[in-house]
Amino acid sequence: MRSLHDDIVIKGLRLRNRIALPPLTTNYGSLEGYVTDAVVQFYADRSRDVGLVIVEATAVQPDGRIVPGSLGLWEDGQIAGMGRLAAAIKGEGAAAVVQLNHAGARCTPSGGELQGASPSGVGFRPDVAPFALSREQIAGLVTAFADAAGRAAQAGFDGVEIHGAHMYLISQFLSPFTNHRNDRYGGDAAARAAFAQEVVRASREKLGEEYPILFRLNAIEEMEGGQTLADALVVSRLLAKEGVDVLDVSLVSGCTWREVDGRRFPICTSAFSKKQPPGANVSVTAKLRVAAGLPVIAVGKLGDEMAAVEAVRDAGIDVVAIGRQMIADPDAAGKILAGKGSEILQCEECMTCFASLGKGKPLTCKVNKGLPGSRES
Ligand SMILES: Cc1cc2nc3c(=O)[nH]c(=O)nc-3n(C[C@H](O)[C@H](O)[C@H](O)COP(=O)(O)O)c2cc1C
Ligand code: SF4
Repeated sequence: MRSLHDDIVIKGLRLRNRIALPPLTTNYGSLEGYVTDAVVQFYADRSRDVGLVIVEATAVQPDGRIVPGSLGLWEDGQIAGMGRLAAAIKGEGAAAVVQLNHAGARCTPSGGELQGASPSGVGFRPDVAPFALSREQIAGLVTAFADAAGRAAQAGFDGVEIHGAHMYLISQFLSPFTNHRNDRYGGDAAARAAFAQEVVRASREKLGEEYPILFRLNAIEEMEGGQTLADALVVSRLLAKEGVDVLDVSLVSGCTWREVDGRRFPICTSAFSKKQPPGANVSVTAKLRVAAGLPVIAVGKLGDEMAAVEAVRDAGIDVVAIGRQMIADPDAAGKILAGKGSEILQCEECMTCFASLGKGKPLTCKVNKGLPGSRES
């Protein structure tokens, strides 16, 4: 019987157990995209017990940042700080993976040639003008992802995760909500996956066959016109053929709209609300596992001890990721592994953490007042 305590080997990389810290944007980086003491502290505090740490969305270009303090791997000068971060995580016994991202039209308005990059010009915020990327610009972005992947390996990370979820640029290509192109990057689910496949292929060429590549995708987008599970099954098979090693399966769990000057902008969320039960994404994640024939990471309120145990023991999930509960209590994973889930300082699912980032502020938490958040190096 499989247990959270079992190790797992991915392309020679051994995870000591089946719990991961999923990517969590902190906004603790410097305004130049560099690692700060606060970033190192945040991750070191959460690396003590888990098998895998996936560092937050890290921009492959300065115009692809989610928040002003997003980390970056767009220039060689960023490698040393990222090396310090990888070493801090590995020093605590966890494997260190970094998530690579371009936020596309969902970026923070920090300028740059590709601010507002999008498959078809669908906007996400009033202060960023979206535009449809040309074929040349798409090719440039594929190279930017691969170059950032190379820098991640140089920094000492054990693997990279390509961010193809949550309506950032790759996700915008994958989703029929945002991709209305009629060239070879648009059309059915397979055609919409072309950009993702090119990014994986170029990264694989840069990193070699033996280096772990994870891919985060939405199993489903709970919004009108969003991607369906059937689409995600097609995409996951294509990613497996392309040489992805692990699928990190997330979702868009809901979408509200805000209206500014007569224009409507979607606000998409990646976390389950209070109403949804722990582990609600587990069964669809298991379906992607079968379709792709790859190990999967499941996420979604799995800081609940029973839900985490059952996901691995009964539902065939390879690794469970615990997000907000690890913000609120950095020892949550350790307590679950020790069978002491009842001692966890409970996340209140209040979304204050998301709200702080939405305002461009460093990550704060209603429950955990001891977060290291500052921008000092
Ligand atoms: C503050 C915050 C920041 C997040 N940043 C990222 C990110 O950088 N990349 C990503 O793929 N997901 C991000 N997520 C989503 C989480 O990785 C995770 O999928 C989500 O919180 C659901 O898991 P949970 O119910 O255990 O919190 C973020 C979530 C939160 C709460
Ligand atoms: S701010 Fe609220 S939702 Fe976010 S981790 Fe803290 S308690 Fe949980």
